[in-house]
Amino acid sequence: MSNNARAGAGEIFMSTNAESKLFTPVQIGAVKLKHRVVMAPLTRSRSIQPGDIPNDLMLEYYSQRASDGGFIISEATTISISGRGWYGAPGMYSDQQVAGWKKITAAVHARGAHMFSQLWHTGRSSNVANTEGAAPVSASVNPDYWLNSKASVSAPDGWVHPSPHRALELEEIPAIVEDYRKAAERAKAAGFDGVELHGANGYLLDQFLQDGSNHRTDAYGGSIENRSRFLLEVVEALVSVWGGDRVAVRIGPSGRWNGMSDSNPDALFTYLADQLNRFGLAYLHVIEPRVRGNVVVEEGQAPVAAQQIRKIFNGKIVAAGGFEPGTAKAVVESGDADLVAFGRHFVANPDLPERVRLGLPLNEYDRSTFYTFDARGYTDYPFYRDLVPA
Ligand SMILES: Cc1cc2nc3c(=O)[nH]c(=O)nc-3n(C[C@H](O)[C@H](O)[C@H](O)COP(=O)(O)O)c2cc1C
Repeated sequence: MSNNARAGAGEIFMSTNAESKLFTPVQIGAVKLKHRVVMAPLTRSRSIQPGDIPNDLMLEYYSQRASDGGFIISEATTISISGRGWYGAPGMYSDQQVAGWKKITAAVHARGAHMFSQLWHTGRSSNVANTEGAAPVSASVNPDYWLNSKASVSAPDGWVHPSPHRALELEEIPAIVEDYRKAAERAKAAGFDGVELHGANGYLLDQFLQDGSNHRTDAYGGSIENRSRFLLEVVEALVSVWGGDRVAVRIGPSGRWNGMSDSNPDALFTYLADQLNRFGLAYLHVIEPRVRGNVVVEEGQAPVAAQQIRKIFNGKIVAAGGFEPGTAKAVVESGDADLVAFGRHFVANPDLPERVRLGLPLNEYDRSTFYTFDARGYTDYPFYRDLVPA
């Protein structure tokens, strides 16, 4: 039986991954891990009380998924009200939010795991209901995005269209870099082990990177160098707080989610990966183009992005997007990636590293509860040990 077959509890499995490189230690910057099965950043919308403050339900969820020597990347976490694009997403812009996160990082650490905070500005992917009335901001104005795209935004009244956005003025960019820097400081106060910059999935920094959404003619538009400038300035700000070895970046080469497109993604992401070499980052997190956001669009496609970035980037690579236990093992053993992040399987399997290690069947995820607001489909997925008779 294959490792990732779904089967009833109590079946006997022929193969385990205990001897795989997936279960060997790895150093990511300043952090030493005991295994390479990473929890991907997963927005779950459970922070719905006023103030976007992480709560005890979230504490239970992250505690369930913390494993000895394991690594968790937090759900995307809002750095400012103007960057707030998802109802129920937690924030990193107030002291109360820091206090909420502090309890979560303490619980995760108590279980021997490590945790980075994923820092997020949604840019145009928002609605005035989330930004206290301010128009969402982006690299350039693309009316098609709010008029014709299928993009939708989670808001207090449900899924709504993105609001019309405006282009950031040149003089406004330093203040957003500063919002990221402050959020990095808060993440430190909140007890995280480092920060991951969300540069993928069509949010603000991706909107600057890709030329389908960036038509600027100033120092932040036009050439690949100019389009990469904002992200690199933010990385510099994060490194000023944490040092390079506790900062990571997530990119989605060829990512199309959220209305993204680029005329030459190979050249763009090759340049970017090369530029990121200078920071001595903890890792570069690479999303495979076979997934678009949270769905697989190219069944069976090999991990091409990790393969390509590996040739350019000198540090550790976390590969993500459409991995199963067997393909995760293969990508790490081939050397194209050092670690693998799982999204949907981690939603449904609180004990995923152990299940992968032992070749146990996985619980199925329920898409209908990805972004709902309570414990159902969040903290009630069973551990394998609860499925088998003692
Ligand atoms: C429910 C859900 C929420 C997600 N939220 C985020 C997020 O907050 N930040 C992010 O970078 N990616 C997010 N993603 C994308 C995942 O991190 C991951 O790249 C994607 O699910 C593909 O991996 P998988 O095939 O292992 O699920 C989300 C995906 C899902 C399913």
